[in-house]
Amino acid sequence: MVEVNFGIVGLGRLGKIHAKNLAKNVPGSMLVAACSIVPEELEHAKNELGVEEVYATFDEMINSPSINAVAIVSPSGFHVEQITKAMKKGLHVFTEKPLGLNVAEIESVIKVINNHPNQIFMLGFMRRYDESYQYAKRLVDDGEIGELTVIRCYGIDPSKGMESFVEFAKNNDSGGLFADMSIHDIDLVRWFTNSEIKKVWALGKNAAYPELDKLGELETGAAMMELEDRTMALLVAGRNASYGYHVETELIGTKGSVRIANIPEKNLVTILNEKGSVRPLSQDFPERFKMAFINEMKEFVSCVNEKRQPEGNANDGLQATKVADACSESWEKNELVKIK
Ligand SMILES: NC(=O)c1ccc[n+]([C@@H]2O[C@H](COP(=O)([O-])OP(=O)(O)OC[C@H]3O[C@@H](n4cnc5c(N)ncnc54)[C@H](O)[C@@H]3O)[C@@H](O)[C@H]2O)c1
Repeated sequence: MVEVNFGIVGLGRLGKIHAKNLAKNVPGSMLVAACSIVPEELEHAKNELGVEEVYATFDEMINSPSINAVAIVSPSGFHVEQITKAMKKGLHVFTEKPLGLNVAEIESVIKVINNHPNQIFMLGFMRRYDESYQYAKRLVDDGEIGELTVIRCYGIDPSKGMESFVEFAKNNDSGGLFADMSIHDIDLVRWFTNSEIKKVWALGKNAAYPELDKLGELETGAAMMELEDRTMALLVAGRNASYGYHVETELIGTKGSVRIANIPEKNLVTILNEKGSVRPLSQDFPERFKMAFINEMKEFVSCVNEKRQPEGNANDGLQATKVADACSESWEKNELVKIK
């Protein structure tokens, strides 16, 4: 196996997880360089992960002859620029979602990616690498539940993140609830059906945090969708799960249903106490998708070695953003939106 020598940009909430995985948990991967604008994060990379080269700018890092791949985990507004620069330097690229902030910039970066077909490109739709979702996908593909009629998805962040989210919303950094939260569910709907979403109708309500109205942001949203093959999808997205991190998916078919995490349980433990029979719930995305983040990087390294492109490509990023934008437009205009 050829070793993939990574430089990572962004060592925040998710960047630290990817950095640790690339340094310690992914065979065939070496984390040789890291870039952040926060000096303490670079110290962490050096001291905790043994990263030899640290940089304050992305341009300096991609000039290093020691790396042949980058992992982009910077804020979403930097993704398109950093993908473009890394591709033009001849590097393999893993990037976090979203591919970009709007359809125009995504279309321009897709041209760059397509001009470098011998370099591996992967977009981090990590749920495709979660074992439960992969199992469910095999059941659906094997026809176990017949023809799909309805997909129901919940993607609700824990309310403990609300304070930092309100700050995030003030800077208009998230792209909105549907682009930030529903994008994974939109990708799952496309993945399970192999069909495109053609129209959406979205609604929203700010009940616990009415101040979000002034910021033009949403605490809870719901979107109803119809796909080209007439499958229906119902997506609920939110920021206010008081009990933890609620990601749940149900696929209803003509011969049966499949549910993934219909109670988002942390593990197999049951506690019996004065509240009754208590099952602890998963509390955040790093906990719920710990293995998926490792599995997707293992797949990226395999793809570099086997010279093949992974699942989770640039077109998936484009289609998911188109649908998320349509949801935002539908909510803002209070009307059904058809996707071009
Ligand atoms: N797949 C998922 O489920 C998932 C979950 C969380 C975040 N994300 C995505 O990951 C990305 C990062 O999110 P986060 O929550 O870790 O963000 P964060 O704000 O916690 O961290 C951002 C990092 O980028 C660095 N940074 C900022 N500007 C920079 C610049 N100009 N050059 C170099 N480094 C810079 C910061 O120093 C920090 O290390 C976002 O695009 C987000 O959408 C994906």
